[in-house]
Amino acid sequence: MPDAGKSEKPYAPRPLWYKDAIIYELHVRAFCDGTGDGIGDFRGLIHKLDYIQDLGVTAIWLLPFYPSPLKDDGYDIADYTSIHPSYGTLEDFRTFLEEAHRRGLHVITELVLNHTSDQHPWFQEARSSRNNPRRDWYVWNDTDDRYRGARIIFVDTEKSNWTWDPLSKSYYWHRFFSHQPDLNFDNPQVREAISDVIKFWMEMGVDGMRLDAVPYLVEREGTSCENLPETHEVLKFLRRKLDEQFPAGMFLAEANQWPADVRPYFGDGDECHMAFHFPLMPRIFMAIRLEDRKPIVEILQQTPEIPETCQWAIFLRNHDELTLEMVSDEERDYMYDEYAKDRAMRINVGIRRRLAPMLENDRRKIELMNGLLMSLPGTPAIYYGDEIGMGDNIYLGDRNGVRTPMQWSGGWTGGFSLADPERLYSPVVSNVQYCPQAVNVQSASRSPHSLLSWMKLLIRVRKSTRVFGRGSIEFLSPANHRVLAFVRRLGNETILVVNNLSSSAQAVELDLRNFKGAIPVEMSGGNIFPRIGELPYLLTLGAYQFFWFKLRRI
Ligand code: BGC
Repeated sequence: MPDAGKSEKPYAPRPLWYKDAIIYELHVRAFCDGTGDGIGDFRGLIHKLDYIQDLGVTAIWLLPFYPSPLKDDGYDIADYTSIHPSYGTLEDFRTFLEEAHRRGLHVITELVLNHTSDQHPWFQEARSSRNNPRRDWYVWNDTDDRYRGARIIFVDTEKSNWTWDPLSKSYYWHRFFSHQPDLNFDNPQVREAISDVIKFWMEMGVDGMRLDAVPYLVEREGTSCENLPETHEVLKFLRRKLDEQFPAGMFLAEANQWPADVRPYFGDGDECHMAFHFPLMPRIFMAIRLEDRKPIVEILQQTPEIPETCQWAIFLRNHDELTLEMVSDEERDYMYDEYAKDRAMRINVGIRRRLAPMLENDRRKIELMNGLLMSLPGTPAIYYGDEIGMGDNIYLGDRNGVRTPMQWSGGWTGGFSLADPERLYSPVVSNVQYCPQAVNVQSASRSPHSLLSWMKLLIRVRKSTRVFGRGSIEFLSPANHRVLAFVRRLGNETILVVNNLSSSAQAVELDLRNFKGAIPVEMSGGNIFPRIGELPYLLTLGAYQFFWFKLRRI
């Protein structure tokens, strides 16, 4: 393994840090309870920072930790600039930030800007009377028939994007739950207020923000109310303000849209620095089930170029359902049939399951999927617990089944809390295959062959080069469709990635004439493979096996 294992440089915010990042997504509430009340908090998280650092990731993405009635797990914010009392205080947050930075870890927080909780004082004022100065901070109407072109996102719970407010006797607009009124971004005061929120956290030292639900900021009659030019104006405004004071800051857009519609969120490098690649994710799952590379190749070939300073964020699972909005109807049926036969596994337009159970706990598939996550273009995001193969509980309601307490050790609370198990904010996963006795950090740390140890190695190898984060991609087209092979290049570095997407051994002949004379060096073991010559390069791969080769030219 060439330079794998080099020690990390200490934290120093520098431009483009996000291009080489590996993100670890976690919820403070679910990670570690440091106070013994059954709810995770910053104290607990600080205690576990060594674990996160040791995993090798370089950035932590925190789900919302602000005061909130928690009807949408904190995405219903009641105060943008303080901490939910269950999770700690601003002082605790500052300590966390300092401790994370000390370990070279960047911190990304949530900016839920499309909407607030109906408990936010802004909304309370706005609804208090039609003449209130804050009235226009939200979107009101006397009837519920405007903007009919806008789809309903939470189809399982909401019937309309309008809800009647009995207090001010009018309807307010919301793209998500009815307790989450949308802010009115046509009002310049709202833009300024959100810009102040950004300033508040950035000044404190936060490195980047995930901009939640950005396609829906502005409404216009006769449109779908998604991705409107006016929405891009708002984002450009916020970016200008960010750049003025925090040039190393980063915006990560959550825009669950087709690649061509996400492309404008990067602007000319003057909007968001990063955006999630939503359509790629279900296609990785499809490709493995179909044992065919086509879904992955097709979507990446349809993905437009993005400005030099921008970057895709890619992921396998996150805190939400595995969304199936960006697939065709047939593809969606296929995904449901293959991955969510039981209706309890489905919610809205997606699947509420974690990675390991979706892959039937097949270690080979879990490794291959993570290998793809770490080698396809973009910055990978790992969802907490997936590095140890945590399970889910599809019976917990909403998306809570994938938000259960992190499993640190065996025992009733999985080492998450000293409280009695029945006091925890959520039950730990208790089925025999995934309960803390079967899956936990402590036992995984003891075995050099555990998934956790393997993930650490994978991350180390990924970090040994900048090619994966910054390089170009070219697909090879071997006759064997079960093999996905591509070349990543940056400067004079070249990496060849070969994946067997199928459940049986495969042989593949690769046309590597362009690399004639080069020696493939397998990156996890550092071993040399036969020199590339004129003839097709023959490789054999076991079920779900993959290789990363550095092509060494002599
Ligand atoms: C978040 C969800 C949340 C929704 C509404 C998102 O896209 O990821 O968890 O429910 O926004 O705030």
